Amino acid sequence: MTEAVQVPRLPTERKCPFAPPEGLAEIREQSPVTKAVFESGNEAWLFTGYNEMRELMRDARFSVKVPRSVHTQEEEPPKPGRGSLLWQDAPEHTADRRLLAKEFTVRRMQALTPRIQRIVDQHLDAIAEMEQPVDLVKAFATPVPSMVISSLFGVPEDQLESFQDAAAEMMRVDIDPEATRAAGERITMSLYMLIQAKKADPGDDLLSALIALEDPEGVVDDIFLVTAAATLLIAAHDTTACMIGLGAALLLDRPDQLDLLKADWSLIGNTVEELLRYLTIGQRGAERVALEDVDIAGVHIKAGDQVVAHGLAANFDPELVENPDQFDITRRPSAHLAFGFGVHQCIGQQLARIELQIVFKSLFERFPTLKLAKPAEDLPFRHEMVFYGVHELPVSW
Ligand code: HEM
Repeated sequence: MTEAVQVPRLPTERKCPFAPPEGLAEIREQSPVTKAVFESGNEAWLFTGYNEMRELMRDARFSVKVPRSVHTQEEEPPKPGRGSLLWQDAPEHTADRRLLAKEFTVRRMQALTPRIQRIVDQHLDAIAEMEQPVDLVKAFATPVPSMVISSLFGVPEDQLESFQDAAAEMMRVDIDPEATRAAGERITMSLYMLIQAKKADPGDDLLSALIALEDPEGVVDDIFLVTAAATLLIAAHDTTACMIGLGAALLLDRPDQLDLLKADWSLIGNTVEELLRYLTIGQRGAERVALEDVDIAGVHIKAGDQVVAHGLAANFDPELVENPDQFDITRRPSAHLAFGFGVHQCIGQQLARIELQIVFKSLFERFPTLKLAKPAEDLPFRHEMVFYGVHELPVSW
């Protein structure tokens, strides 16, 4: 009974919509690793310290195959086949990630830069013609990442619209589970057809390169390719869209910081790193389960216990940066955990960085007088979602 009282509840209410939930810092200060009660009512281990989270994420005694999320009461549906990188452990994860990483190179990502710039400029041109206020989420933050991933995959011009529609349908939040499942099937089919087209007529794109990989063990079959493409699409789309919407909202809410950036565009790299740290959109953290009894960071975790690595809390640990509560684009880029840490660390982080840098620079260069069309605290924030952000961002100029 007394023990139950000592277990804190994971705070989820934000007083300032751009800052972490109230009370999270206190939990980290008192015990950077603790048992906590999650929104579902379930108990699990909570890692909020920066060093403690890194220790956890590099420990192979923890698996990503959690039987159910600690945040919900629902069972995780079984994942068929070899599955997505996100739900694999070694040795399958090591092998599949190595295959994908071969083609996910900085060079390939940098080669996309002119195309990303063109996509961004086209959307900004269209916005300039729209009646104000314009919803920046709908007109910019959502379509741009989807077009970028289409470029990476080499979706042909004549299939672009139907591919975009299928991807957008899958990302909708206002449809029921049955419709989401149907949308998932539609995008899987689109990806399968695209892969067949690339086999017949390869191009200079990621999917063609994956098809052409040397693969003596015969891992790269259609299921592997469709799963890899679907994982990339899902992992790249919503995350980047949320960062664009929320990042723009924060910069518009902090004109002192935005003015610094406008006066010196060489700060764009630092700005994006600080946005990633300060906003850490994966607001629920990464989930793992202990495969055996583990002594780690001063606690004893039993086999089968679930753990949550709370990157948002860890990114506000003074172990990482001085004055963590200050949003400061002039600080040196930090080794933040917004892309995770360890073997599952985001494979698309270079692309995300390039994309976000182009996005924010082009947006504020093109619309120097851009402003929020309603006060920041009245914006509809994505409190209930896996990735934090804004559902809508009305702006004018
Ligand atoms: C700002 C945008 C993004 C953020 C904040 C983000 C964040 C993350 C995080 C936190 C993880 C680790 C999850 C875990 O440990 O359980 C992850 C994994 C992953 N991300 Fe990203 N991501 C972003 C953009 C992208 C993009 C653009 C791509 C692809 C083009 C991508 C592809 C992936 C993949 C495939 C994984 C799984 C890696 C693995 O399990 O080995 N992400 N991402």
